[in-house]
Amino acid sequence: MGCCSFVCLAPLNFQILEETSSSIITSSSILKFSSSSLDRCKRFYRRKPNALKLVSSDYSCFEVKGINYRPPGTQHNLLNDVNFSLHEKSLGLIFGRSGSGKTTLLQLLAGLSKPTSGSIYIQRYGEDGNPNQSPEHLPPERVGIVFQFPERYFLADTVLEEVTFGWPRQKGGIQFKEQLALGLQRAINSVGLNGISLDEDPHALSGGYKRRLALAIQLVQTPDLLILDEPLAGLDWKARADVVKLLKYLKKELTLLVVSHDLKELSSLVDQSWRMEMGGLLKKEPMPV
Ligand SMILES: Nc1ncnc2c1ncn2[C@@H]1O[C@H](COP(=O)(O)OP(=O)(O)OP(=O)(O)O)[C@@H](O)[C@H]1O
Ligand SMILES: [Mg+2]
Repeated sequence: MGCCSFVCLAPLNFQILEETSSSIITSSSILKFSSSSLDRCKRFYRRKPNALKLVSSDYSCFEVKGINYRPPGTQHNLLNDVNFSLHEKSLGLIFGRSGSGKTTLLQLLAGLSKPTSGSIYIQRYGEDGNPNQSPEHLPPERVGIVFQFPERYFLADTVLEEVTFGWPRQKGGIQFKEQLALGLQRAINSVGLNGISLDEDPHALSGGYKRRLALAIQLVQTPDLLILDEPLAGLDWKARADVVKLLKYLKKELTLLVVSHDLKELSSLVDQSWRMEMGGLLKKEPMPV
């Protein structure tokens, strides 16, 4: 990478990491981790020379450091010292055997449960490849997660109600509401749902359109990280191809972390991959296709 510069990526905010009693991040440990993360980012660009653009800019990596997870009241860790780094606007894929801990990890990254120890954050790098800000904790509201079979959790009678279901009812002034409305329009367009009436019953949509709707719900507030658990599961071949195309498009603007068994169909999109081994051990590994 040398003094080469990176394509301009939307700046992300930076705050201090999540700290737990068993793993307090000190400035020296941040620096130590940052240099290994930097190496990973450098390797990413070596493998993907087309990703390099000769413009001067910063870039960010979503980084996970030393995550352990033991559910309360149990004796064994479901995740053991999980470390990885994902360059923004790229797609990372986690594969591995059933029961190895993939969904457990995604739930931690989305803030649905708390790691026993370790940190999850965003690190920004300058054009010289060195961290140029303090790492920033990634709060759950900036992570979108699309669960496996998301359509099973649809609750509303119309597409509009489904997308706006979690929105604050009274809070916020007109500006906030305008912002949400713009986000809704952008999300609907970006998943190709603009041909569908907002009055339509979400349960009556085709499998592929239900999946698009689940994605739109997560995209309204433009997450810094979008997590997808088995995005192709249960879809017919046409809908699977549509979702793959959609992910390819979304990757231009978003950082995506996907868990899937459908390695062949996703292989053309994947920038980095890891195998989750039984016992919650994550190892960097090319996809076996
Ligand atoms: N709260 C919990 N307490 C104890 N064990 C749990 C808990 N949640 C999940 N597990 C166990 O953790 C292991 C990992 O589960 P997880 O759902 O993360 O696997 P997975 O890799 O996503 O599997 P699949 O590919 O089938 O979706 C499983 O053995 C599961 O039974
Ligand atoms: Mg799972």
